[in-house]
Parts: sequence; C-alpha cells; structure tokens
Amino acid sequence: MRFTTSLALAVLALTTFTLTAQTAPKPSAATHAKAAAPSNAVAQTPPMGWNSWNFFFGKVTDKDIRASADQIVSTGMKDAGYVYVNIDDTWEGERDASGVLHTNSKFPDMKALADYVHSKGLKIGIYSGPGSKTCAGFAASLDHETQDAQLYASWGIDYLKYDLCSFHKDVMQAQAPDDKAAQMRLMIAAYDKMGKALKATGRPIVYSFCQYGWDSVWEWAPALGGNLWRTTGDVQPNWGSIYDIISQQQGLAKYAGPGHWNDPDMLEVGNGKLTLAENRAHFSMWAMLAAPLLAGNDLPNMKPEINAILTNKDVIAIDQDKLGKQGTLAYADGEVEVWTRHLAGGSLAVAVLNAGSDRVSTHPFHLSLAKLGLHGPQKGKNLWSGKEVELTDNLPVELASHDILLVKIASPK
Ligand code: GLA
Repeated sequence: MRFTTSLALAVLALTTFTLTAQTAPKPSAATHAKAAAPSNAVAQTPPMGWNSWNFFFGKVTDKDIRASADQIVSTGMKDAGYVYVNIDDTWEGERDASGVLHTNSKFPDMKALADYVHSKGLKIGIYSGPGSKTCAGFAASLDHETQDAQLYASWGIDYLKYDLCSFHKDVMQAQAPDDKAAQMRLMIAAYDKMGKALKATGRPIVYSFCQYGWDSVWEWAPALGGNLWRTTGDVQPNWGSIYDIISQQQGLAKYAGPGHWNDPDMLEVGNGKLTLAENRAHFSMWAMLAAPLLAGNDLPNMKPEINAILTNKDVIAIDQDKLGKQGTLAYADGEVEVWTRHLAGGSLAVAVLNAGSDRVSTHPFHLSLAKLGLHGPQKGKNLWSGKEVELTDNLPVELASHDILLVKIASPK
C-alpha cells in the first residue's frame, strides 16, 4: 500500500532528521534584522490548543481531528481557553499539474474539516515547511509558498507550523556547503517568504516557526512575522527530555511578549509514562515560561486527572497573563530550582521545582524569600491545592521527585 510505504520512509526520514536536528551545533548568528512584534495581531497571549503529532504521529486522520475538536468542547478545555486544533505532518498528498497541493486519502476534504472545527467555535491549524519535503517525507512548500498560503486561507486555516526539515539538506547545505552564515541567510529568507505570503492572504494566521532554535531564531523571528518559534529539538514524553528543554530556556525570557513567544515545544501532558507529578511540573513550567499550551494527548481517552491538569484555570491564567513577561530562574539549590514570573498588576508567580530523583525531605530544602527580592511573610495561593498559603523566609518545602510547588502571590512585598 502506498501509504504504508510512505509512512515507513517517513519514519526513516524523521529518525535521520531528528538526529541531525538535535546533534547539529548551533551555527553562529548571521546579521539579523532588528526584531519587532509581528503585525498580524494574533497570539497576544501564548496560543492554546491541541496538536496531533505527540500522540498520533503519522497516523492522524480527518476523523481523529473531528473527535479531538469534539473532546476539546466536551472536556471543558475550550472553556479553559484551548482554541487551536492543529493538524501536524502527514495530511499532504500530491501537487497537480498547476502546482496545487491536494490532501492525501486520510483527509478527504480539508475545507469541510475546517468548517467542522469552526462550527465548534474553535480554530484550525496546519503544517508545512520551506523545503520540498516535510520531516515525514510528504510534500512541503518550496517554490509554492504563495500558492500554499492562498490554499490555506481558502480552506479557512488559522495557524501554520512551518518546519525546516528537508530545507536544511536540500537547500542550505546544497547551495552553501561550506558557509554556515550563508546557510542561515537562506533559512531566514525562506521563513520571510512564507511570512509575506501569509500576510498577502489578508487572513490572520498564527505563524509558528519550527527550526529547533537555530541561529538564535528569537532575535529575528518577530520581524519576519513569527508569532512563536521553537527553541529546541523535539520534546519526548519523559522527564529527561522535559527537564532538558526547561534548562535550555535560560536567557530567552527577554524575547517573549504579546504576539511573539518562545516555544519550548508542545505539551506531553498525559503521554508516555509521565507520573502525575511530572505532568503537573511540566504544565506548570510551561505556564511559567509563557509557552504556547498545545496539548498533544489522546483526548477521547483522557483520564480525569490529566483533564484536571490541562484545565487548571489558575495555572492557565499564569501562562496567559496579559503582561506577557516570561518567567526566569531566580536561584537553584542542589537539584531544587526556584523560578519567578512577574504578572500584570504587580502579582508574582513562584515555582519551586524538585528536578532531582529523590524526595526533597531527604535533602531538606528551605525557600529563601530574600533571594526572590521579597521581604517578610507573603500570602499567596497554592495553585495545585487551591489553598491559601503563607510563604515565610526559610520555609521548609517538601516535594516528591519531579514535583512542583506553584504559588501566586497577589501583592508581593
Ligand atoms: C519535526 C517537528 C515535530 C513534528 C514532526 C513532524 O520533528 O519538530 O514537532 O512536527 O517534525 O514530522
């Protein structure tokens, strides 16, 4: 069967590419245009929704997308703020003689699917890339950028994830084999090209860059209309990967703000063998990082405790805070990290993360308020227990391995 063969090739291509993406050194920055907030007026807070890749990978179908949209409504996720239903890779078919891209047999009618998602009061996203092939080996947008952008707009697409993939080998390495700076210029030009094509459609479309943080993308993406940009390689549903990504966000806070966000990749909440503590910590840290909240789990079979994590309105409010200021690491003590995030109206979110594999009671941890710039006892709300708490200086905090204490202090002193 054609599709099975494509899928096997796709997995091979993906494996090869993922290795390349994660091991390639970050090339040094080329000369960048000065960053400016994109003018498409979308993503004033980090985009929230769901994406097909982290659970379905290449198996996703039209039916799965419809079922996921239904679930976003019936599980309360829509009410909690999840809006985008994003189809990732493997929807693409062949181009016809006029270059128009068609869907493959898994997606018989993209316009009808978009209409269905819109009828639920949700928005719909799609996936492509600047190369000739996507990461899974399907048709991408090289030399068809304008045509593809117009096609997406005609379907009613609201969000595009644009993934570098084959552009790296087929264009950057092929055209500038020994010149990293020239390669980066080609990459930047490719993202610019699609940004202009999207803008020319006149439809507000969230533009998501996926090129794994190469060439300090945070410095140049906003000026090219990028609303979010991946900062790392692909997330995996295990604590090692999630913590590794958290650690790679240092120094990036100043690049985030309304309309343009660092993207530490989609959520793995509810996937793999993550414990409840790990799911909670993952979700809390994405909120602290003002990260896009794109769930990636099997919504029709979601357990109630996972639903509860994904719809915790207090935690979501941290992520969606109007000030749009990304949190930073205040200090670390052994394997315990204390992060803070400044919120609108002068409030402060404090996260105490036990990144270690032991329960913290075996290595007592005491919270220093002075190191957070706070003076004396602070009244706050524990956002996971929902209880009022008082943080005092040197407060002993006991946390299970990979668990988190997340507190919002409304009026810090
Ligand atoms: C890359 C991206 C993933 C996903 C796959 C699809 O690996 O980083 O998020 O989109 O491609 O093939």
